[in-house]
Amino acid sequence: MGQIEQNETAAISEYQPARTWTSFPAPQSSDFDRARDRSRQGQGSASGRAGQDDEPEIAERVATTLRQTYLETTRALVATVEARDPFTQRHSRTVSLYCEVIASRLGLSAERMESLRTAALLHDIGKIGIPDVILQKPGPLSDEEFEIVKRHPGIAIEILGHASFLSAELPIILHHHESFDGSGYPYGLAGDEIPFESRVLAVADAVDTMLSPRSYKRPYTRTHVQEELTTGAGSQFDPEVARVAHEWLGSMPRIADG
Ligand SMILES: [Fe+2]
Repeated sequence: MGQIEQNETAAISEYQPARTWTSFPAPQSSDFDRARDRSRQGQGSASGRAGQDDEPEIAERVATTLRQTYLETTRALVATVEARDPFTQRHSRTVSLYCEVIASRLGLSAERMESLRTAALLHDIGKIGIPDVILQKPGPLSDEEFEIVKRHPGIAIEILGHASFLSAELPIILHHHESFDGSGYPYGLAGDEIPFESRVLAVADAVDTMLSPRSYKRPYTRTHVQEELTTGAGSQFDPEVARVAHEWLGSMPRIADG
């Protein structure tokens, strides 16, 4: 691999959109609405004796507490994922950023974007249930080992299904290994049967995996990743999502040699 290609790979991996980790993920607006509704009905007050003049303040406190709890819980879950495997420590955050870049070019709404970003952060939490000897195996997996790895989207749902505030994220996570031609897992969904956000997540996940070093491979060059996106369009990847990701990679500024 040439010096320019190495630098370009590093630049893409280090790419950071305007928003930072400390500013996201934001909770769904519907969570706040529900909190305010409960407060207005008197359920937000510990004593139930608050006067009408106190209601806006109480509602704001409930919403603030809910927002803080959401952020802290999500960050704790992400830290759990990243502590699992040294080779994927930054993977979930990078995939989330790539999802934002790709989905914004496809016109995803702000509310659905928030769910996609959160789902991307948590997409591999199910690997907690996969043995290290398989996850960190420095070579190709046997058929039996791959069958075990394929359980991780379902394990994620078992873990995250207890968190009601993640209901929008669950289907995105469950289907992030489906392939556009129906050859993926866990359900073999195809085309539009696969949630759109899962199709974006699948491409972002693959792009970061290809650009990153692993125990068994060196990082792919940008050109190599673009070739893989072209090859996989319509089979592994949604062709429109793959096209946009290809275009985005091509638009990254070239890095000067040295
Ligand atoms: Fe995965």
